[in-house]
Order: sequence, then structure tokens, then C-alpha cells
Amino acid sequence: MTILITGGTGFIGSFLAKELLDTTSEDIMLYDFIINEKRMISFEKNPRIKVLRGDISKWPELHSQFEKLEEISTIYHFGSLMPPLTESELRDAFKINIQGTLNILECARLFNIPRVIYSSSGAIYGPGVDLPVTEHSYRDPWTMYGVGKVCSEVLGSFYHRRQGVNFTSIRFPALIGPGRTGQGMTIFANNIIQFPAQGEKAICNVEEDIAVPLIYIKDSTKFLASLHDREDIPEQAYNIDGVWVTAEDLASYVQQEIPDAIIEYEPDPELTFMLRSWSMMKGESEAIFKDLGYSPSYSPKELVKDFIAEVRTTPEYKI
Ligand SMILES: NC(=O)c1ccc[n+]([C@@H]2O[C@H](COP(=O)([O-])OP(=O)(O)OC[C@H]3O[C@@H](n4cnc5c(N)ncnc54)[C@H](O)[C@@H]3O)[C@@H](O)[C@H]2O)c1
Repeated sequence: MTILITGGTGFIGSFLAKELLDTTSEDIMLYDFIINEKRMISFEKNPRIKVLRGDISKWPELHSQFEKLEEISTIYHFGSLMPPLTESELRDAFKINIQGTLNILECARLFNIPRVIYSSSGAIYGPGVDLPVTEHSYRDPWTMYGVGKVCSEVLGSFYHRRQGVNFTSIRFPALIGPGRTGQGMTIFANNIIQFPAQGEKAICNVEEDIAVPLIYIKDSTKFLASLHDREDIPEQAYNIDGVWVTAEDLASYVQQEIPDAIIEYEPDPELTFMLRSWSMMKGESEAIFKDLGYSPSYSPKELVKDFIAEVRTTPEYKI
């Protein structure tokens, strides 16, 4: 049997692949549009790792690739166009993030793949949401990225109810960890740790008191790996609120580990404004604790320490 990860050589996909190598005996297929060789350095020679290049938005190509695959037990669907591109390239965002999800669900239905696990986001909610944010809060995204997440979840629920595909969506807060790149709204939290760990100056593009909910990549992938053979997931969507940490606190944890770390603030007013409205959206993670035993093990301070050690010792995590 094989576990297939779309976006498999991306940040979350490559960490999950490592975790699944340790926790399962199945082959792991990394399906990706752009193969990020660097992220695979430590495990690419493992015979259980397979890599397949392809585009989830191109149905004929995707369908014929799936026809040739061996039996798939679970699809982790992470392939996605990411912000800020989702906000400037709206048609591409639709094609990849909505049509692409439909195509993956169709493959699951046609090829009897029992389970699809999807990485959603707190971006499904908008600033007017009632507090605290729960699984039942009204989804009213303000970004095309969030629109893609809502549409994917609705499609997934339909396939779950009517087409025999078990679908579970995990709505993550900001995931941080070594080697994360990109220009998403929460990348500042990653950069505050990543650059000092590499011996470089970090520029933080929000004000010091901005807080975002975080989860360490190792906690998230350990949890995701635990879902692949669960038969008893009661709901189709779960929220994880994460631990709220300010830029200033993260910087102080970094300085405890690296006393000469240089972290400078060059706040972008628009980003700071957007994150301030997000900081109103406090939520809860009770259902995921209760139903699925989600239990993160890294406090912010511990994750900073582990993150720095990983960057210093693992070549693929330098950016
Ligand atoms: N990183 C976070 O903080 C975070 C938080 C919540 C949800 N998520 C979601 O998790 C998923 C993975 O995020 P990530 O942080 O690993 O991002 P990433 O950019 O590192 O990975 C996304 C991957 O998708 C691939 N991809 C893009 N277009 C594709 C296409 N047409 N066909 C196949 N693959 C394609 C990219 O090549 C890339 O490898 C995304 O759905 C993202 O929205 C991420």
C-alpha cells in the first residue's frame, strides 16, 4: 500500500513524509508540481519514497497518472497555490485550490481510495466571526486563499456524505518550523527564528506586539501521521487554535538561545493591520483534543530551541 501526499515536497509534505517513514510501513508517494529536491535530502534514497511530478489542476494527466498507481490507502492533500499569489492570480487560485481539490476527490472516488486528509486553515473565517471561533462558526473568508479552503471543505463533505470517500479537514493556524519559505502573512514568526539560527539578521515585518496562533511543524506532522489509519473520525472538520505568541516573545526566546541574535523591526502597516484583526479571532481546539487525541508537545520556548538546533545541524533546513 502507498500513502500519497499532494504538495509532497513542500514544507508540510516533506516533514510528514519523514514522520510516515518512521510510523508506518507503507510506501510514500510525493506528488508535486515543482519537486523541491533540497527538502528531500535526508530521505530521498529511502526505497519507500517515490516521487511523481504532476499538476492536480490538469484532470486528464492526473487521471491517467492515478490509473497507473498501485493501491493508495490515504491521500494527504496539501498541493496548493499559496498567498500572496492566491490574491493576485485569482484564476490560478481557483484552478489549483478548488478545481485541484475536486480532481483529487474524483480520483479518490474512481480509484476506491478510502481516505482524504486535507490541510485547511483559519483563513476560512473573516473578521466578523462570533467568538470564540469553533467548528460551527460561520465561514466567511476575506481572501481568495480562504475561499479555496471553504470550497475544498464543502466539496470534501459532499464526497464524504454521498460518494464514499472519508474526508477530514484539519484547520491549522500558522505552522512554523525549519526551512519554511514563502511570503505568507505569518512568515515573520518563522523568520525571527530561522535567520538568527543561520547566523543572519532577521527582519520582522510586523509590530512587536502582534500575536499569531502557532503550532510547531513536528507537532502537526506527528498528529497528521496518526490519522492515516483511523477508521473512526466522527467529524469532517476540526479546528486547531495554536498557541498565541507575540513577535516580541518569540524574539526573546531566540535571544535566550542566541544572545547576539539581531532582530530588527520594519513593520508593514497593512500586514500589521490585517494581523491585528486576525488576533481578535481567538478560538478553541476542544473537539480535536477530545475526538482525535491531538496533544502538542512543544511549548513556544521549546519549539524555538528545537528549531534552532535543527537549522544548525540539518543542511536541508538552511534557506
Ligand atoms: N504553512 C502554514 O502555516 C499552513 C497553515 C494552514 C494550512 N496550510 C496548508 O497546508 C498545505 C501545505 O502548505 P505548505 O506550508 O507545505 O506550503 P508549500 O508551499 O511549502 O507547499 C505547497 C506545495 O504544493 C505544490 N503545488 C502547487 N501547485 C500545485 C499543483 N498544481 N499540483 C501539485 N502540487 C502543487 C507546491 O509545489 C508545493 O510543494 C497548503 O494547502 C496550505 O494552504 C499551511
